[in-house]
Amino acid sequence: MKKVIYIIVLALFTGILINACTNNNNQQAGAKIADSATVIETVKDPNKPKPMALMMRQMAANADSMKAKLLRGESIDSLSFPFIRFYLVEPTDKNVLEPQFFENAKVYQAAHKAIFDHPENQKKYYNLMIGACISCHENYCSGPLRRIKKMPIID
Ligand code: HEC
Repeated sequence: MKKVIYIIVLALFTGILINACTNNNNQQAGAKIADSATVIETVKDPNKPKPMALMMRQMAANADSMKAKLLRGESIDSLSFPFIRFYLVEPTDKNVLEPQFFENAKVYQAAHKAIFDHPENQKKYYNLMIGACISCHENYCSGPLRRIKKMPIID
C-alpha cells in the first residue's frame, strides 16, 4: 500500500515539474520521461516560482485581457498594458540567459511597442506580438506553448 502511494506522489510531482517548462506534447511522452530527470535537477522549488515565471504569468493574463478588449472593438493603451521587463529578473533555469534569449526578448519588446504605435490596426499588431511570444517559447520554454497558441485573434 505504501509503495502505491509513493508511486502516485512521484507521478504527480513529476507531472507538476513537466508542466513548469518542458514540452507538453503528448506525442513526445517518451522524450518527456527522459527529460524529467534533468528537470528535477534544474527546477529545485516548483512551489516558489521565480520572478521571471511570475512576470510571465502577468504577461499571459495581460495578453488575455488585451484580446478580450480588442474582440469587443475597444482600443488598448500602453498605460494599461506596460512592457514588463522580464529579462532583468531571475528565471527558474539560469541557462536561458544567453544571447539568443535576449535577442528574442528585444524582438518581443519591439512587437509589444508596435501595438501602441498602430492604434488603427491593433488586432494585427497584437497577433504579431503573440508570434514573438511563440518564437521565444519554441527556443526556451515549450510547456506554455499550447496556451499561447490559442491567444491570436482569428477573424
Ligand atoms: C524572450 C523569451 C520569452 C518571451 C518573449 C516570452 N516568454 Fe514566456 N517564458 C519564457 C521563459 C524563459 C519562461 C520560464 C520562466 C521561469 O520559469 O522563470 C517563460 C514562462 C512563461 C509561462 C509560464 C509561467 C509559469 O507559470 O511558470 C507563460 C504562461 C508564458 N511564459 C507566457 C508568455 C506570453 C503570453 C508571452 C508573450 C506575451 C511570453 N511568454 C513571452 C520566455 C519567454
